[in-house]
Amino acid sequence: KNLIIAAGCVLAILASGAHAEGRDLRIAFDIPYKPFEYKDENGELTGFEVDLASAICEEMQANCEFVVQAWDGMIPGLLARKFDLIMSSMSITDERAKRVLFSDPYYITPGGWFGPEDFDTDVTDMDAMKGKTVGVQRGTTMDTYVTEEMGGVVTIKRYTTADDMVLDLEGERLDVVFVDYPVGEQTVLSEDGFKEVGEPVKLGQGVAVAMRKRDKAVAEEVNEAFRTIKEDGTYDTIMKKYFTY
Ligand code: ARG
Repeated sequence: KNLIIAAGCVLAILASGAHAEGRDLRIAFDIPYKPFEYKDENGELTGFEVDLASAICEEMQANCEFVVQAWDGMIPGLLARKFDLIMSSMSITDERAKRVLFSDPYYITPGGWFGPEDFDTDVTDMDAMKGKTVGVQRGTTMDTYVTEEMGGVVTIKRYTTADDMVLDLEGERLDVVFVDYPVGEQTVLSEDGFKEVGEPVKLGQGVAVAMRKRDKAVAEEVNEAFRTIKEDGTYDTIMKKYFTY
């Protein structure tokens, strides 16, 4: 039921800032990032944020098209008008807020540490962590954290996609991964032989929709739509579908 109308006069409408009913919006997701956005066994785009996107589109009576965009091109793609909204578990940070307009946050996720069952090093002990190899998705808040806090201590391996990172953990080419907690929980802990190996770390100021700075009218509608779906129970229903806690 999510779906897809061809883009058309999006640029004209957005540029004019008009509040038109039936606004065309293209929404970008970086996949796979289970449970936020990924393809199900039939190849359909699905996930917490994909359902949220459908719900707010319905609320806004917008014609939405969902597009897949690699994480490292997210903000450039938005600014180049390849799409209009990013809903890709992007955390609000001061750095990003200089370039994009964030909606109100709709979710909070810390960074989580995951590794093999026999990993017994304290990830906050820099002496013990010396020489360990840590995997992160490039350009994420986890990348920034590890770079700033552990650069020069650990070897940092940066991945374009979260699943390549998880595959390298499973292939023992990494000692640990540092990834948005629910992603680690649903992609690493779902396999045998892995566990959480450290305390979750609060990063950013919550996950939000990112838009171009000038699209203030869109941002207001997005915030309004989120308020509605939180009040009417839609948000909770979607939440329960993807998070079992
Ligand atoms: N929450 C993290 C950040 O904002 C990572 C998000 C990565 N999202 C994705 N769909 N790959 O940096």
